[in-house]
Amino acid sequence: MDSYIDLKNIPTKELKYVDLDRVNVNCSPPDFEPQRQYYFMAKCRQIVKLESERLGRPLYACIQVFGCQMNARDSEKLSGILEIIGYQLSEDENADFVIFNTCTVRDNANQKVYGRLGHLNSLKKNNPHMKIALCGCMMQEPSAIEKIRKSYRFVDLIFGTHNIYKFAELLTAMFESQEMVVDIWEDTDQIVEDLPVERKYPFKSGINIMFGCNNFCSYCIVPYVRGRERSRNLEDILGEIRKLVSEGVVEVMLLGQNVNSYGRNLARPITFANLLREVEKIEGLERIRFMTSHPKDLSDELIQVMKESKKICRHLHLPLQSGSTRILEAMNRRYTKEQYLDLARKIREEIPDIAITTDIIVGFPGEKPEDVEETIDVIRQVKYDNAFTFIYSKRTGTPAASMENQVPENIVKEGFDKVLKVVQDTARNRVALLQGQVQNALAEEVNQQDSSLITGRLSNNTIVHFKGDESLIGKIVPVYLKECHGFYYLGEIRDAGCVQSTPLQ
Ligand code: 5AD
Ligand code: SF4
Repeated sequence: MDSYIDLKNIPTKELKYVDLDRVNVNCSPPDFEPQRQYYFMAKCRQIVKLESERLGRPLYACIQVFGCQMNARDSEKLSGILEIIGYQLSEDENADFVIFNTCTVRDNANQKVYGRLGHLNSLKKNNPHMKIALCGCMMQEPSAIEKIRKSYRFVDLIFGTHNIYKFAELLTAMFESQEMVVDIWEDTDQIVEDLPVERKYPFKSGINIMFGCNNFCSYCIVPYVRGRERSRNLEDILGEIRKLVSEGVVEVMLLGQNVNSYGRNLARPITFANLLREVEKIEGLERIRFMTSHPKDLSDELIQVMKESKKICRHLHLPLQSGSTRILEAMNRRYTKEQYLDLARKIREEIPDIAITTDIIVGFPGEKPEDVEETIDVIRQVKYDNAFTFIYSKRTGTPAASMENQVPENIVKEGFDKVLKVVQDTARNRVALLQGQVQNALAEEVNQQDSSLITGRLSNNTIVHFKGDESLIGKIVPVYLKECHGFYYLGEIRDAGCVQSTPLQ
């Protein structure tokens, strides 16, 4: 027993160096985090090893992500734990362990999960030792849990957004139980740091800077499923980014439902603009992105920091939702059409080469054709570089769901098509303005349709495809933007040293 490690004595920062095969899992688990989770990782490692020996092959795990960048980042955390406990990660759902990280922001996201669960059931019938787990935002809804308990009894594990850090502990419970394991918390104020993460891309990464949302837009379920706003400590964020940069990351995306209110609830409050100033100082980091900004909290200080920065990308996602002040009020967005337009104007004046993108909802209760016209007017004035247009989806439990004046489907569809057309026309014109320029692109992947091409991303988020090979991936290279094809470019790589960026007007 001498060579056994007791995790209770290991400092947090050293946990990642511990040989988990030497951890004593016969003693009780530590009652503090993240040591406790490393104990359960060691335990799961033994279980996976035994099962793999029994089958005479490695065990495969597959994570399917639905929804936003937050879920993508959470899935990287789940992947990190799965790798440590001995699973091989696979894209194929016909695996030994399948996890759906779900979304519930609109009803079609829920329907997709139910549909895909039917398919998993047929796979499980051929492979009875297959395990299935569900997590993410949809699991925070009691009605979804009820339905799964009743109609999808083959699911083995369900957990939510607040206890994702407990994944290893929940897995242990799943392996040791014959019944469906369900663990959902209503909320949490806890943030557990220093757990393993397996990144999808070696050269770029999302970083959570905060969790939850306090805004309660009247249509939105996020505050109910992601809980109250909690910011991570500045030093934890900077430490994580420094580590990522030392591993080869050149671009980070700072993630939060409302990044502009970062830091307000910290013991030593700090603004988002100041966080950006600190991130900018990290040597070796080339690009900084962030998502999402709420217009009501976007400060002049932030605009100045973006303007002066060499690293913050020329892209701002600024959800409009509606261009009608009356609808914005009913949505509880806390800005008017004019305030939004003033803000967009100020941003374009200060940072002329910035791309502004947005989210728009059509069909919010009480919306009339003249409100849709107000939205179209804002699109025409701001000239978005891209916009995600959504049909309003009724989310049970939100104030808008019980509003009486829901809009009939055919009227919504009419408004939606109109908005989409204007959005596409303006976006196409914006993207075309880059024609003939040479701009830096981060080479991200080999093009899926044509393997002689590399797909890269400009600072302003526009996609460009250019001739090149895999050795370029992760590098920032100057690219001549030769042909505009609607929303992307075909380009040619140019010698370093000839980069220019002409302001977009
Ligand atoms: N219906 C339609 N779209 C919604 N969004 C959030 N809630 C809903 C809903 N109930 C959209 C908003 C938000 C984006 C992430 O999803 O536009 O900005
Ligand atoms: Fe939802 Fe509004 Fe919070 Fe965004 S800011 S997550 S739309 S409540």
